[in-house]
Amino acid sequence: MPKISNKGINMPESPIRKLVPYAEEAHKQGKTVYYLNIGQPDIKTPTVALDAIKASDLDILAYSRSEGSETYRKKIAEYYSRNDIEVSHNDIIVTTGGSEALLFAFGSIMDEDDEIIIPEPFYANYNGFSTASSVNVVPVISKIENNFALPSIEEFEKLITPKTKAILICNPGNPTGYLYSKEEIDKLAAIVKKHDLFLIADEVYREFVYDDIEHYSILQKSGLDEHTIVIDSVSKRYSMCGARIGYLVSRNKDVIKTALKFAQARLSPPTLAQIASEAALDTPQSYFDDVTKEYVKRRNILIEGLENIPGVKVAKPNGAFYCIAELPVKNSDDFARWLLESFDYDNSTVMVAPAAGFYSTPGVGLNQIRIAYVLNEDSLKKAVKIISEALKVYKD
Ligand SMILES: Cc1ncc(COP(=O)(O)O)c(C=O)c1O
Repeated sequence: MPKISNKGINMPESPIRKLVPYAEEAHKQGKTVYYLNIGQPDIKTPTVALDAIKASDLDILAYSRSEGSETYRKKIAEYYSRNDIEVSHNDIIVTTGGSEALLFAFGSIMDEDDEIIIPEPFYANYNGFSTASSVNVVPVISKIENNFALPSIEEFEKLITPKTKAILICNPGNPTGYLYSKEEIDKLAAIVKKHDLFLIADEVYREFVYDDIEHYSILQKSGLDEHTIVIDSVSKRYSMCGARIGYLVSRNKDVIKTALKFAQARLSPPTLAQIASEAALDTPQSYFDDVTKEYVKRRNILIEGLENIPGVKVAKPNGAFYCIAELPVKNSDDFARWLLESFDYDNSTVMVAPAAGFYSTPGVGLNQIRIAYVLNEDSLKKAVKIISEALKVYKD
């Protein structure tokens, strides 16, 4: 039989999706499963976006320009301007989700065996994108005890080698919910300038910030134009995960010129979804105010509930809709599977994401899980109760 590539063999399984067969089996047995494992919000997509699809009277569902439609990119630039970020539509390439923007960024700035430093725990698919791009992730560990704040500059500098090409942060963070301060961005700016590196910020959760703290984008930092690349997406912002629209933003003309070649090779981002995403930019502020209020309520219920479970440690997130919880178990992978296979409380159970897959350092995060608070208040309360009851009887 012809052989599969080593790259293919080394592609990591998604820690978010790998328990799906167990959840399906639990469901077949008649259990209610509360899905805390995946960042699929239950929030409604703005009607302006859905109406735009219904109103479209296309004769041909044609390709769009490789960099995305000009009217859409101009409106994205206006969106950034409203957020105190000045970019031109020529600094933007529309992609098939933030996922493709990450792949284009990696492909544009790194060669085989180059290194990218990422504070961990990090969005698990960064491992997959790195494998696909044949680059090596160099993790810098952030700790639950410090609420997952950025490690010290010295920790970063120790890791920089001639192969280092970039630092990647997720702000606010998935899976930690950590929101980087302006001071932390200033520190990162100093490192990337000193060592002539790229700074990539995945800002797909920009709107989801709580407690009156403002998001500070790397694109707001002056004097950093040649270094910065932002990854963005409509998936979470407008609860449009299925649209598959994201974008790569950089004022570095060479980055854009290079990423455009990757964009040309895949021809075009989805045309119909660009129409919906362009319309979504007219979503009223009240939508975001309501969504933020809802997530704050959910976060507070979840964090308070988890803190009340003996032996559970949790960092309070200031953004996005995830948290990492440390459990009094040895192996959260086994615990998560056991929850689906062997446990129920009132005929219900929960699906969580074991956190080890959000680290690239082997053996770290084994007793942690990631929880996405994408369920309504009532379901979240039930889910916390199930975890609490499960921990009373679980044996490693
Ligand atoms: C941090 C982060 N970046 C990027 C993505 C990719 O999103 P999409 O490809 O749907 O835009 C996700 C999706 O969950 C994410 O959490």
